[in-house]
Amino acid sequence: MFIWLSVVGGFLLILRTRFPYWLDDCVYILRSLLLAIRLIKYKRSKPFYGVLDGFLAAVRRHPDKTFLHFEGECFSYGEVDRRSNRLARVLKQEARLREGDAVALFLGNEPNLVWTWLGLAKLGCPVALLNFNIRSKSLLHCFSCCGAKVLVTSAELQEAVEEVLPALRERGVNVYFLSKTFKLQGVNFLADKISKASDQPMPKDLRANVTVRSTAIYIYTSGTTGLPKAAIITHERMWAASFLQSLCGVTRNDVFYINLPLYHSSGFLIGLGGCIERGISVVLKRKFSASQFWDDCREHNVTVIQYIGETMRYLCNTPKKDNEKDHKVRIALGNGVRADVWSEFLKRFGDIKVKELYAATEGNIGFINYTSKVGAVGRMNFFHRLIFPYLLIKFDIEKEEPIRNAQGLCVEAATGETGLLVGKVTQRSPFVGYAGNEQQTEKKRLRDVLKKGDLYFNTGDLLRFDKDNFVYFQDRVGDTFRWKGENVATSEVADVLTLAPCILEANVYGVKVNGNEGRAGMAAITLKEGEDFDCADTYRQAVNYLPVYACPRFIRVQPSLEMTGTFKLKKVKLVEEGFNPALISDPLYYFNAAKKTFAPMTTEVYSAITRGLIKL
Ligand SMILES: *[C@@H]1O[C@H](CO)[C@@H](O)[C@H](O)[C@H]1NC(C)=O
Ligand SMILES: *[C@@H]1O[C@H](CO)[C@@H](O)[C@H](O)[C@H]1NC(C)=O
Ligand SMILES: *[C@@H]1O[C@H](CO)[C@@H](O)[C@H](O)[C@H]1NC(C)=O
Repeated sequence: MFIWLSVVGGFLLILRTRFPYWLDDCVYILRSLLLAIRLIKYKRSKPFYGVLDGFLAAVRRHPDKTFLHFEGECFSYGEVDRRSNRLARVLKQEARLREGDAVALFLGNEPNLVWTWLGLAKLGCPVALLNFNIRSKSLLHCFSCCGAKVLVTSAELQEAVEEVLPALRERGVNVYFLSKTFKLQGVNFLADKISKASDQPMPKDLRANVTVRSTAIYIYTSGTTGLPKAAIITHERMWAASFLQSLCGVTRNDVFYINLPLYHSSGFLIGLGGCIERGISVVLKRKFSASQFWDDCREHNVTVIQYIGETMRYLCNTPKKDNEKDHKVRIALGNGVRADVWSEFLKRFGDIKVKELYAATEGNIGFINYTSKVGAVGRMNFFHRLIFPYLLIKFDIEKEEPIRNAQGLCVEAATGETGLLVGKVTQRSPFVGYAGNEQQTEKKRLRDVLKKGDLYFNTGDLLRFDKDNFVYFQDRVGDTFRWKGENVATSEVADVLTLAPCILEANVYGVKVNGNEGRAGMAAITLKEGEDFDCADTYRQAVNYLPVYACPRFIRVQPSLEMTGTFKLKKVKLVEEGFNPALISDPLYYFNAAKKTFAPMTTEVYSAITRGLIKL
């Protein structure tokens, strides 16, 4: 017996040394398998079992358990269920909603959104989650691409709604405010009706025709490129995203902190959906606040937090405090953290398991950093790849398209080489696309990849696999540009620039310059309070820390940088505006190597550059 134990023990030890991640791999594969079995069961059950049914099961299990903490108030699972019944009843009657009618929600990060969504799900209605920061033209665009005839909103967004109200009326859209009556003509106020409505369960046959392939949610993918697109999230997709918490080891006893916007997939699908799947308590924030973050975690005994790269950085930028490690947070779930910020985060805030995810809202492929190897977004494993076939293919950064061989097929990138990630479109990993936007949907499809007629989803992301099968995110197509035959990663340049004493933030991108291949680097920057732009110092900073091809050729000083709802910097407009001082009123500078400084851009300099008289 003892001998056998030793043999097995020795074998495990060898395994651990030779293949240090085999245990992590096994746990992950096992968890995935169990979830896959559950998903199959849910899909096959008649009637179909959705996230809403998962919620109702949690209500039956523990009606009195807190579901939502929000600004000092607590709402139990039972309470949220009853509120959603009221909402469903009133909206069904007032808006004459039927199964399948899309409803747009224009609401802040508040519990209202949660029970309105659940209520509509009980009617079998998909909801479009509008970004509460968008206004006017963009708002109308988002509203119309999901085909909704009903808009539900709340008092604090009144002004934004008023602005588009005439256009909405023209399109025959009904607008409902969840608040009480105030002075606004031609819209409906529901607060009184909701408080009087019955909170008894809604009959299940109202949603009898919903299937796994029905649309559950429309989520708008962030507008870094052009107007937002409404990604179709099916019920199947919603389950898959909701399972990520479980896959990362979140248990029934955890308390989850949602500080990301619920109109994006991280907050809504992975955060809220996952919490419902686990049946856990959520601390919901109207918005992210670095200064309140740890106090909130301490007050509510938060054990799991959600992040994006930027929020992680903001947390690391807060002034140091003595009690930073005094909290119960054990898991951080998110994406986009850079390795240096990650290390700093662990150093300051203690031993937290960071589970870095890689996935796109509309994509059909994702990775999880389940081994917690710093810097990796995940691991390639045989099992995962078998179920969700994916590839890295060679990519031409300049032309922004895959490299094709003589047969017109794509070429797989070598180990260690950066390539474009594409996921094979199959029954199991479908790509549903964007609502009412066949053109954009088609743009994300890539055909003839390994053989004629095959079909892949183009993630638009450049990744790299190392020899140990770790997956590293390199850049988003468009976040890299080519200059002097070299690839320049915009984030890297931005990081160096922000080390200059006068610069607060930098947004780096590439601009076309007449007579030059590729794109010249340009940085839109903001200055620290009370600082002037220090031309010579910034020049030194760039030249000292960046290869010369990566040094920005142009600097544009702005009062503030425009961001999307998830703190991604907007670039497209800046790229279009270029560096012409006649068109831009912000102060502009150019890289003057002869004088070793950034010199002010004038119309003379501009024309000399475009005529090739000044070399960049
Ligand atoms: C479900 O579909 C059937 C057949 O298409 C239809 O008759 C019925 O009205 C639908 N139910 C609902 C609630 O829409
Ligand atoms: C947090 O945990 C402590 C100790 O376990 C407990 O006394 C306290 O009531 C908890 N707070 C909340 C909000 O659950
Ligand atoms: C994966 O997780 C480990 C451990 O938390 C971490 O050290 C590593 O940097 C992560 N990789 C990436 C790309 O974030």
